[in-house]
Amino acid sequence: MTQQTVKAQSVRMARGVERVINGQAVTDGAGVKIKRVLTQPLQRRLDPFLMLDAFGSDKPGDYIAGFPEHPHRGFETVSYMIHGSMRHKDSAGNEGLITDGGVQWMTAGRGVAHSEMPEQTDGLMEGFQLWLNLPARDKMSAPWYRDIPSEQVPQFATDQGATVRVIAGVSHGVQGAVQRAATEPIYLDISLPANAVFEQSLPPGHNAFIYVFRGQVAVDQQDVPLQRMAILANSPDADGVRIVASQDSRVILVAGRPLGEPIAQYGPFVMNTQEELVQAVEDFRAGRLGA
Ligand code: CO
Repeated sequence: MTQQTVKAQSVRMARGVERVINGQAVTDGAGVKIKRVLTQPLQRRLDPFLMLDAFGSDKPGDYIAGFPEHPHRGFETVSYMIHGSMRHKDSAGNEGLITDGGVQWMTAGRGVAHSEMPEQTDGLMEGFQLWLNLPARDKMSAPWYRDIPSEQVPQFATDQGATVRVIAGVSHGVQGAVQRAATEPIYLDISLPANAVFEQSLPPGHNAFIYVFRGQVAVDQQDVPLQRMAILANSPDADGVRIVASQDSRVILVAGRPLGEPIAQYGPFVMNTQEELVQAVEDFRAGRLGA
């Protein structure tokens, strides 16, 4: 893909940092060590986002067992591979491989059962899995997925030195790989040389955060260190965010329109009510999920 250079857009009043989050080391799947950055207690605050896991390890023992078959219902999973390769297979017969820089966007809808397994036995495995909620009316929609190889992720550079990959939403007029009408997610991977600045306009009511995975940045004079998430304040007057690189840095910026609906979660099922969760478990046990 050819990379265009665009004139950097600026925001009038930038959001501040509400809170810096460390994340929690957890083990998921068949023993994969990950850092859960967006945890369940933050789901309401960061609505429509339900979870963000960061994985990054050069020790095969941390990731090699992968995520054998498991179900999902009621939301979308967005897997973004920085390094490494992961094969996914699902109950609808779909299969694909995400490799360096690629994305898998899966809408679980009424249900899929899938596996996500590393395809390398050594070397660095690094990436993210983000969970994006579905509005109540779409929770039982037909499952859908798309593999987006790295070269199909739109990318641009700004005249201020930022290089930006647009996984979802729109940035500086560049349309991302995926658009979603209900939650209007923006998902950017931003590389910044030291002292470079990147500004992104954001609707004031949209919830937003950044996660730093190289270097260190500052947002509204507040340092956001490596491997930290910063929740961006929703000030009614602020029209965006300004990220300044303290050193060579790379961050993801995620924002979206809150759904404002009840969130009921039981493991891999995210619905609106307890009754719907009970139904999801019953459907799974009866083999109706992903059938
Ligand atoms: Co999964």
